[in-house]
Parts: sequence; C-alpha cells; structure tokens
Amino acid sequence: MVKVGIIGLGYWGPNLVRNFSKTKNCDMVLACDLDQDRLRRIKEIYPSIEITDDPQKITDQVDAVVIATPLKTHFSLAKEFLNKGKHVLIEKPICASSQETIELSNLAEKVNKKLMVDHTFLYSDNINKIKSLLAEDSLGKIYNIDMVRVNLGLFNKDYNVIWDLAPHDLSILLYLLNKEPVSVVAVGESFILKNIVDNAHLYLKFEDSTSASLYLSWLSPRKKRTITVVGSKKMLEYDDTALDSKISLFDKGVALEPQNLPEMPHYETFDQFRYVYRQGVEDKINVAEREPLAVMAEHFIESITKDTPPKTNALDALKVVKVIEAAQESLTTSKEVKVHD
Ligand SMILES: NC(=O)c1ccc[n+]([C@@H]2O[C@H](COP(=O)([O-])OP(=O)(O)OC[C@H]3O[C@@H](n4cnc5c(N)ncnc54)[C@H](O)[C@@H]3O)[C@@H](O)[C@H]2O)c1
Repeated sequence: MVKVGIIGLGYWGPNLVRNFSKTKNCDMVLACDLDQDRLRRIKEIYPSIEITDDPQKITDQVDAVVIATPLKTHFSLAKEFLNKGKHVLIEKPICASSQETIELSNLAEKVNKKLMVDHTFLYSDNINKIKSLLAEDSLGKIYNIDMVRVNLGLFNKDYNVIWDLAPHDLSILLYLLNKEPVSVVAVGESFILKNIVDNAHLYLKFEDSTSASLYLSWLSPRKKRTITVVGSKKMLEYDDTALDSKISLFDKGVALEPQNLPEMPHYETFDQFRYVYRQGVEDKINVAEREPLAVMAEHFIESITKDTPPKTNALDALKVVKVIEAAQESLTTSKEVKVHD
C-alpha cells in the first residue's frame, strides 16, 4: 500500500482526494491546507483522513505527496518532500520556470524517487484515441492543429491565462505530434486585472511546417474545449464538452489539380489549376472514457509499486514550461520567439 498525503484542498485538491481514495494499492491518509475550513470539509467527507495545516509536519505518515497548491509554491514544496525521500506528484504547471523544473528533475533522480506532473489529458481515453489515429497515419501529413480552451474564469491573481490553461493544450499537442515547436508568437490582453493577461492567442511553428494555434481565455461566455486537426488525408474535430461521441473524423480535404496543361515545363497562371474538394463522410467515434484523473492517479501509484517511469515526467513538463516561457517573452517583446533547447 502506498500511503499518500495531499497538500492543497482548494478548487482542484478535493478531486484528487476523491480519486486517490478509490485507487487500488493506495491509502489516502493525510490532507494538508493552510485553510481550516477546507480541512474541516475534507474531514467531514473522509473521516479517516488525518488533517494538518502545516506541510512541515508531514513526515513518516506518507510515502508520497500530491501537490495541489498555487504554482508559486510548487517548487519549494516538491523540493522539500523529495529531500524527505517522498515520491511527488505535482499539479500542472510543474514549476514557474525551466530552471526550477530542471533542478527538481535532477533532485528526483538523485534521491531515486518518482516525480510526476499531472498533465491530466494524457490520461484521457479520447486523447489517446486521437494519438493512435495520428500514429497510424489516418489523417496523413498534419498541416495544422487548432485548440480552444475558454470559459468565464477562474481568474488568478498570481499568473496569467497562459500559465493556467496552456499546460493542458501544450501537453496534448506535444504528445500528439511527438515533437516540439521551434517558435511561438503570443498576443494577449489584460482586460480585468492589470498586468495579468486574461485572453491570449498563441501561434506555434514546427520544423516540418506543421503549425498550431491556441486560444486561451478566462473571458468567454461559454466553456469551450475543442481541438481541430487538419491533415492531408482527413480532418478531425474533438469536443471535450460533448456528452456522447467527442471525436469526429471527416473524410474531407482539398487538392489542386492541373487543368488543360500546355506543353511546357512550368505553368503560366494559377488558373491552370482546379481545386478538387473532397466532401466525404463524417465518422463519429465513440470512446468509452474513464475519468482521466482516476487513470492518472492509478498510473502514479503503479509507477511507485512497479518502479516504472511515469508517463508524464519532469522532462515532459520541462518541454511545456519552455514553450510557455517563450510565449511569455513573445507577449512582452511582441516578437516571434524561438523555443530554447
Ligand atoms: N489538472 C487540472 O485539470 C487542474 C485543474 C485546476 C487546477 N489545477 C492545478 O491545481 C493547482 C491548485 O489549483 P486550485 O485552483 O485548486 O488553487 P486554489 O487556490 O483554489 O487552492 C489552493 C489551495 O492550496 C492551499 N495552500 C496554499 N499554499 C499552501 C501551503 N504552503 N501549504 C498548504 N496549503 C497551501 C490554499 O489554502 C488553497 O486551499 C494549480 O497548480 C492548478 O494549476 C489543475
């Protein structure tokens, strides 16, 4: 049995408590928060869980900690618990800089403990279905991936909408394409809080001319979570808010066909080409989906009991943080910024 403690019982923490409480080979033994009301609420629902308002008091009660506190505390808490010899799961985004992420990754290796980040959607059965469709070349060459993650709130006073929402889309994007972008252009506005961008657009380029765009906002009337993948053979839409089939695969595309070609080695005008549109069928793909957070929790525990590398480790998280850092620089300089190696 892996004894787990959680730090942070705000908006997200209780979802982790619920899932780790049901995970096999896991004993959810301890919950920590600075806020007494939040501790009391958890104790009411899970009377057997020990509660504390002081992370420093967490020692022998646990083998692993789950960190679900605000971003600015991730690095110091994770460092403290790795140094205490605990396995650590950190909520996204792993840390506030690539430097911190590298330091944690090295420390985890040194103390020989698991360090995993909760990139939740990589544990989604639908996202994994899209990954397998791309891997088996069902869509052909991928031209563009367009991602939308918008809703009203939740506003954060400490960091902007890119740090908050982009870790989800970037982790999905890098996972689907299995490569990293070379550059990013980001634009954004701070409509509500001064200096905290609440509405942003990112445009990413990859080496082989694939591109991706992300629209992230805390200022939109309706929750939207969509991904559109445009390939040379087929196109795909994913809607995470759909109640039944979330994936649609379209047999649609366009080709340019030469027309009435004169006997010459080159074409004189663009009119000598004809657009050929393929307006094929839409296949709705139904995937039986488990709760991604439950799959993630199970995976973390299994990586400890079986001593296997976590699917979403610190080096994967580092790739995401580097793109966010480049996006942040692009916001400030209004320039296209290379994503550093
Ligand atoms: N995976 C997901 O889909 C998902 C969704 C939402 C949030 N998150 C992530 O979860 C983390 C927490 O987000 P949230 O929205 O729940 O934040 P929140 O502000 O609602 O809650 C954070 C909690 O941590 C507590 N806390 C702060 N510092 C602490 C400390 N040093 N020791 C103990 N407790 C402390 C606060 O009292 C608060 O209750 C963030 O990293 C966020 O990005 C992930």
